[in-house]
Amino acid sequence: SSSTPARRVPIEPQSVDAPLTDSAIFLVLEVVDAPEAHAVVRSALASVSDVSKNVAFRDLRASLSCTVGIGSDVWDAVTGLPRPAELHPFQPIIGAHHTAVSTPGDILLHIRSDRRDLCFELERQLLDVFGDAVRVVDETVGFRYFDNRDLLGFVDGTANPVGLALPAATVVGDEDPDAAGGAYVVIQKYVHPLDAWQELTTEQQEAIIGRKKADDVELDDAVDGQKSHKTLSTIEDDEGEHDILRDNMPFGSPGSGEFGTYFIGYARRLWVVEKMLQRMFIGDPPGLHDRLLDFSTPLTGSVFFAPSADLLDALDD
Ligand code: HEM
Repeated sequence: SSSTPARRVPIEPQSVDAPLTDSAIFLVLEVVDAPEAHAVVRSALASVSDVSKNVAFRDLRASLSCTVGIGSDVWDAVTGLPRPAELHPFQPIIGAHHTAVSTPGDILLHIRSDRRDLCFELERQLLDVFGDAVRVVDETVGFRYFDNRDLLGFVDGTANPVGLALPAATVVGDEDPDAAGGAYVVIQKYVHPLDAWQELTTEQQEAIIGRKKADDVELDDAVDGQKSHKTLSTIEDDEGEHDILRDNMPFGSPGSGEFGTYFIGYARRLWVVEKMLQRMFIGDPPGLHDRLLDFSTPLTGSVFFAPSADLLDALDD
């Protein structure tokens, strides 16, 4: 007689792969340093998927999703689970001209929907659940700008992995069994001096980005000398190219002169994002930093781990 192996349901990641939406909220929270607060946060985290479902159901076509990331400093106290192998706080990178700052952040809520009101409603309900156990460190509302352009005017997100390459690039697998189904998340909130950028010619801007502005066609990689943003953020080794998933969103307020890009990157391996940042801020070769940084200043920088949906839901068991 043959024995049938138990059917194993695959581990379900959070909705890291949610589609690009018209609106998003990036909410960074600090957890109050007290055991009661940790307990509240633990059960609040476990309820995120239910609360999201309640709001999402009111218009299923609006693709509401919420991805939750947990920072290194609170991981142990809040989850009580083994640490993801690469989880550590954002390491600042100090280049000759530009610095990638590291700023506080214990919990990240990345809320996405095609409807601003659904994002708003979910944020409101979730903050009610977290209550006094958290303090809001930063709340940024992003919006879709024309054909997925950033405020510098370039189409942003083109080279993102699609199909099976997407989970392969973003979701931890057997290499770290306790963290399987999760993803590392890196955020940086950038502001742009738009006037200075607009003084450049289109050709100068294109050389900085590495793509044509109007039709997004790729320019050839520089063989030596100054490399474009596209080339500096491409990580290749013996295993091939290492992708990440970006869901950058413009934000800002012309009335107060604020023009920004909220960078968010999801990755199966944190070191890949860190390597991209090193190449951008230090340069390759060192000294030739990413010229995009002459027009983009990061105000924040934090690392989170977005555990699998199963693990998140079970946090208060
Ligand atoms: C590509 C904009 C920051 C990683 C691009 C492209 C644009 C862009 C317009 C070309 C189109 C595309 O493939 O998406 C920006 C802006 C940033 C920013 C406005 C902030 C102000 C970052 C950071 C990272 C990063 C901080 C990584 C840590 C990448 C990667 C690509 C890319 C991996 C694709 C490269 C390729 O394989 O072609 N970015 N980016 N970007 N960016 Fe950024």
